[in-house]
Amino acid sequence: MSDLRIAVLGVGVMGADHVARIQNTISGARVAVVNDYLTDKAEALAATIPGCRAIADPLDAIADPDVDAVVLATPGPTHEKQLLACLEHTKPVMCEKPLTTDVETSLEVVRREAELSTRLIQVGFMRRFDHEYAALKALLDNDELGTPLVLHCAHRNPAVPPHFDSAMIVKDSLVHEVDVARFLFGEEITSIQIIKPAANPAAPQGLADPQIAIMRTATGKHVDVELFVTTGVAYEVRTEVVAEKGSAMIGLDVGLIRKGATGSWGGQITPGFRERFGQAYDTEFQRWVNAVHRGRSAGRSTGDFTDGPTAWDGYAAAAVCAAGVESLDSGNPVEVTMVDRRTIPRA
Ligand SMILES: NC(=O)c1ccc[n+]([C@@H]2O[C@H](COP(=O)([O-])OP(=O)(O)OC[C@H]3O[C@@H](n4cnc5c(N)ncnc54)[C@H](O)[C@@H]3O)[C@@H](O)[C@H]2O)c1
Repeated sequence: MSDLRIAVLGVGVMGADHVARIQNTISGARVAVVNDYLTDKAEALAATIPGCRAIADPLDAIADPDVDAVVLATPGPTHEKQLLACLEHTKPVMCEKPLTTDVETSLEVVRREAELSTRLIQVGFMRRFDHEYAALKALLDNDELGTPLVLHCAHRNPAVPPHFDSAMIVKDSLVHEVDVARFLFGEEITSIQIIKPAANPAAPQGLADPQIAIMRTATGKHVDVELFVTTGVAYEVRTEVVAEKGSAMIGLDVGLIRKGATGSWGGQITPGFRERFGQAYDTEFQRWVNAVHRGRSAGRSTGDFTDGPTAWDGYAAAAVCAAGVESLDSGNPVEVTMVDRRTIPRA
């Protein structure tokens, strides 16, 4: 089977990482086209990859006959237009989160994909592919913990860029725990409240950091998340499920523990999300490439070109985060408004 020819749109932090991943780690695919708003950047990158071209217009890159599949690593506000172009040209697409930046456009994307009766969109919620999250999910699915009751999460970053505001803590950081909660518990989130404790004195003026998110699922399960993005320390993502027959926790950074001659004892803390979730991104991309190959073999009209979070998962996350931003302003719990999934066939 010939390699999948992939166009990567947006070659910033994530896009450049994904280009290197596809070229060096993933089998069955190669980067055939790169595109970036900064055309010089795309051209310079293309020149380093055999058989790769830079195409200046993202929509031309999607439509190009020598492109089999697309990776969107452009900023969220550009996703809607680029996703609709992928659907128009029936091109499978791995879209970095978010699906789109608001609930209405996310729902429109879900509806347009459903009209094609083909699942073309996968959303980059990579934690589902992390070995630790997969082990936690397997414990729950195998009923080894009994009924899950509570999910405690912590999501800490050492620092964020200057443009990062309080709502982005909900939409860009919490969004991952929203997907994790839906993934682990297998049900929708129905309400959310964001609590703002006293702000970190070291945080930029006006940034509500830390924040505590409290969510409730359809069957009444409790989820709480500490979000703290200016710790000045390291990247920490911890998740604990408390269940009927015990509890289980991941994200403790307990890799190598070293005892030093100076009397020191300890391990390494993870500097950032690319180090913490490198394996997850690799697995996510390999499984996506395999799914696209399978979909192409099955035929374009009825195929499923995904193996992971779908457009619906992107829409559900957008709905929860929109309610979260509303709660950030009011301080009150906010009900999550979503359409009934059964009204959209194949969603
Ligand atoms: N899954 C994760 O863990 C994770 C982590 C970080 C970022 N992300 C997501 O990945 C996406 C990219 O984030 P990033 O951190 O790489 O951002 P970035 O700013 O580093 O890169 C974005 C790139 O897109 C280019 N660009 C902007 N508008 C464009 C357009 N219309 N067409 C083509 N290129 C355009 C920019 O020039 C830039 O090079 C975002 O959706 C973000 O939310 C996901």
